[in-house]
Amino acid sequence: MENFDLIVIGGGPGGYLAAERAGHAGLKTMVVEKREFGGVCLNEGCVPSKTFLNSAKVLDYANHAANYGVKVEGKNSIDQAFVVERKNKVVKTLVSGVKGQLKANKVNMKMGVAKIEGKDAEGYIVSVDGKEKFSAKRLIIASGSTAACPPIPGLKEGLASGLVMTNREVLDLKEIPEKFVVIGGGVIGLEMASYFSSVGSQVEVIEMLTKIAGPTEAEISGILQKSLEKKGIKFNLGCKVVGIEADGVVYEKDGKQVKAKADKILLSIGRRAFTQDLGLETIGVNCDRGAIVTDDKMMTNVANVYAVGDVNAKVMLAHTAYREAEVAINNILGKPDRMNYNVIPSVIYTNPEIGSVGETEESAKAKGLDVKVASLSLMFSGRYVAENTEYDGICKLVINKKTNTLIGAHIIGSYAGEYIVAVSALIDLEVDIENIKKLVFPHPTVCEIIRETVFSIK
Ligand code: FAD
Ligand code: NAI
Repeated sequence: MENFDLIVIGGGPGGYLAAERAGHAGLKTMVVEKREFGGVCLNEGCVPSKTFLNSAKVLDYANHAANYGVKVEGKNSIDQAFVVERKNKVVKTLVSGVKGQLKANKVNMKMGVAKIEGKDAEGYIVSVDGKEKFSAKRLIIASGSTAACPPIPGLKEGLASGLVMTNREVLDLKEIPEKFVVIGGGVIGLEMASYFSSVGSQVEVIEMLTKIAGPTEAEISGILQKSLEKKGIKFNLGCKVVGIEADGVVYEKDGKQVKAKADKILLSIGRRAFTQDLGLETIGVNCDRGAIVTDDKMMTNVANVYAVGDVNAKVMLAHTAYREAEVAINNILGKPDRMNYNVIPSVIYTNPEIGSVGETEESAKAKGLDVKVASLSLMFSGRYVAENTEYDGICKLVINKKTNTLIGAHIIGSYAGEYIVAVSALIDLEVDIENIKKLVFPHPTVCEIIRETVFSIK
């Protein structure tokens, strides 16, 4: 039985980066992947959805070209089969990049289903496809997550017939449905609603809560909702789905049953950590509601067994998985390192897009912090005004009065996802507001809004 310094289970962002860093540090490493390297992120999540959304953005621009003095003749439309084909090319390029990096760092890449089979004197035993066995001194579990599928009547049948899709199927859809219904107004639901609305579907979103975009700051999520409604998306908030029928989704609103007619339905009501059949019980790894319990060094309760990425269900984002992977490897290498979940930015890639990080006024007050909020229209950015024709973007900064530092930022408008990391850094480094005022921002850029908002603090 071949012995490794480290076996990584799962080749998504958490797994492949952990393996790459371990290989780079000289550890004899194997990563096992059962579907395709790159995981959900590269193959059926982040990258495919953003490839779709960029096509929608190009179409939105073409449809509004006249606003910028550009004449576009005839009717613009989407070639959905081409969009899917282009997405596949993008995915192929990035997956081969990941494999290239793993190879360059001398990582052993193994295709198959990994299962922990217990422990012996050599270390942890891992089987692949129930046949070959390997052992390792350490394990990193990075098996990711899957779409949540609750017991809604008719859902199983809908999924089997193709009427209902999860993220996996929707990102391979080669035709534009006339009526597209989304169950769940969270991140996946909103990004896909934004896409299908731009490319011509009539879109309805059914959301259980009374606001969209889950934990997003309330005013920002309100602006996004209004902007998406202007595009034609209908939101049914505070609605509970009670069944799926052949022609649509039945939901309850104010005690009455209503049907949203649909040609295709997207199920996007959250994701669950994937811990099934991993053999965790053979070595006694603790789980809480199906997710592996880890500390801030990414250690589980079992010595030399780590878990990174969606499988610990802390913050299900690819960049969280990356950082957790690095924290795990640093700890394996004896370099002290800990996860700080307070400064993880999140982005919603709708048009307009949202970038946020840290506390909202509400969450800060709930923690007993004494805060003030500065809020400014993005019209204070010259580039924003030059590049847009509608100006609903805002930037909100949350300031800790006691420390005179930023503890949160919430921005809606162009490029928000690209520059939110600047605020993450200012929060992480606890830079005093007076020192932020001395930073020079390039002009004209939309990110100047941070400087402008800082100067507007009263
Ligand atoms: P995964 O990417 O799920 O990878 C886990 C891998 O483990 C999979 O490849 C799986 O096949 C493999 N595996 C599981 N069990 C075994 C086993 N027993 N043996 C071998 N292999 C196994 N996040 C962002 O930050 N930005 C975004 O824009 C974004 N967009 C998203 C869009 C969609 C539609 C979805 C669904 C998710 C999106 N996410 C986004 C979330 C992001 O994809 C995840 O947070 C990220 O993929 C988690 O990485 P991971 O390595 O933990 O797990
Ligand atoms: P989500 O948690 O973002 O949103 C799910 C929504 O569904 C919530 O608003 C919830 O209230 C609602 N809901 C739950 N049950 C429902 C029901 N029975 N009927 C109606 N509504 C219901 O989950 P989503 O959109 O599936 O995405 C999963 C995760 O993937 C995200 O939490 C995020 O971590 C990641 N992701 C990140 C993206 C990004 O960073 N841009 C893009 C897409 C996904």
